[in-house]
Amino acid sequence: MFISGFLSHSPSETESWAAEFAKKLKGGEIIALTGELGAGKTVIAKGIGRGLGVREEVLSPSFNYLLEYRGRLQLFHADLYRIDGPQAFRALGLDEYLDRGGVMLIEWAERVKDSLPPETIWIEIVPGEGDQERRISLRWKDA
Ligand SMILES: Nc1ncnc2c1ncn2[C@@H]1O[C@H](COP(=O)(O)OP(=O)(O)OP(=O)(O)O)[C@@H](O)[C@H]1O
Ligand SMILES: [Mg+2]
Repeated sequence: MFISGFLSHSPSETESWAAEFAKKLKGGEIIALTGELGAGKTVIAKGIGRGLGVREEVLSPSFNYLLEYRGRLQLFHADLYRIDGPQAFRALGLDEYLDRGGVMLIEWAERVKDSLPPETIWIEIVPGEGDQERRISLRWKDA
């Protein structure tokens, strides 16, 4: 198990951290983003998009469930806020994006925890002191 943490002091710091993180991705990763409403999951997604060289702005996919982008790698960005569990996840066909070889980013991933493989990279974002502090922790099983 690998664990690392980062303390962010602003949205742009979070976005830059995520962009640097994205440069290390090889394709095939599943990245589960957790944290309450407004924690900063979409800010991390925007940074990952930037780090992968996606030219458009990565937008919150709330009303579409999943949006797809192309950068150095393909990026699939899902938001499961309106999904109540694994059954709906499968019914919408979202599970089919888990093995497409791109980078699969999932907001509210805890809703389908049992449908995600053990190598999933979990990123949790939790508010800290004041308005702009966020504690970001990263956790995955390294083979
Ligand atoms: N250090 C920080 N890192 C990230 N976002 C921050 C930070 N400080 C303040 N913010 C603000 O917090 C908000 C995070 O919004 P964002 O849409 O990314 O949250 P979210 O976790 O995706 O929420 P939702 O569950 O609604 O999708 C933004 O308005 C952002 O400007
Ligand atoms: Mg969001």
